[in-house]
Amino acid sequence: MSKLVPAVRSGDVLIPALGFGTWQLENGSAQPLVEQALAVGYRHIDTAQAYRNERDVGAAIAASGIKRDEIFLTTKVWVDFFADGDLQRSAEKSLDRLGVDHVDLLLLHWPKPTPALAETMAALNEVKDRGLARAIGVSNFPSAVLAQAQALSKAPIATDQVEYHPYLSQKTLIAAAQAAGTSITAWSPLAQGKVAEDPVLIAIGQAHGKTPGQVTLRWLIQQGVIAIPRTKTPARVVENFDVLDFELSHDEMASVFALARPDGRIGDWLDKAYSWDVG
Ligand SMILES: NC(=O)c1ccc[n+]([C@@H]2O[C@H](COP(=O)([O-])OP(=O)(O)OC[C@H]3O[C@@H](n4cnc5c(N)ncnc54)[C@H](OP(=O)(O)O)[C@@H]3O)[C@@H](O)[C@H]2O)c1
Repeated sequence: MSKLVPAVRSGDVLIPALGFGTWQLENGSAQPLVEQALAVGYRHIDTAQAYRNERDVGAAIAASGIKRDEIFLTTKVWVDFFADGDLQRSAEKSLDRLGVDHVDLLLLHWPKPTPALAETMAALNEVKDRGLARAIGVSNFPSAVLAQAQALSKAPIATDQVEYHPYLSQKTLIAAAQAAGTSITAWSPLAQGKVAEDPVLIAIGQAHGKTPGQVTLRWLIQQGVIAIPRTKTPARVVENFDVLDFELSHDEMASVFALARPDGRIGDWLDKAYSWDVG
């Protein structure tokens, strides 16, 4: 299995295109899985304050013996802490729980109308200026709010982490983000497991000796999108990393794009002050 994970350059950081997601890995379950992921070769770990597993993720990184600067670590600030002062303190607490002196990427978890985005972006930039985060970014920001964040931020917005998989088109957002130098990170990249039953993905996989999940992750990475699949199943930790030794043809890529449908969105907690991009 090739271990050369491509990286996406964004702002002043290189983000490994394949990461390990940790949502719903609570009550100690994150530590052994993150340790396994690091042993398999993942060098990008995605957590959040809201996942209640920052301590476990930090313990896994410490136990791995891998040098801190070889691991790309992302966490997210929850929406209750977007005010000036609250945000900086909550970032410090995340670092404390993770047992690190900086994260590689600190994201705003969801857009929120109050406090004003200008206040939140200034606080986020201060965290970066203090060296507590190498890069900053956002999550679940539609393109209109992303453009505001970009305009209000001194530092580049390194990524917008959004739901993205074969059943949900993100064409509009991806074009807008990438034109402004912001990468896209796909959450629920496997459509929370739904891809496994898809006849189109199964057929493409059979042609390459790969599973539908592997085809999906390859489709994302081949677009220059970062994917952060999550699994509680040790065999799938290996399976989801084994996507670096094959390539989808132009026609196969097009067949996966054609699976997008209007009702494909799975997780929708967007404040009603905003609306999703169409298409
Ligand atoms: N920023 C945000 O608001 C946000 C929101 C959601 C998620 N995220 C991030 O994105 C990560 C991934 O998203 P997600 O956990 O929602 O969904 P996902 O990675 O698309 O799917 C996870 C589900 O798919 C199953 N699965 C994993 N690998 C598989 C494979 N190779 N074949 C078939 N099924 C497979 C898992 O089952 P088993 O566990 O039973 O193997 C689990 O039920 C999260 O962990 C989190 O880090 C961010």
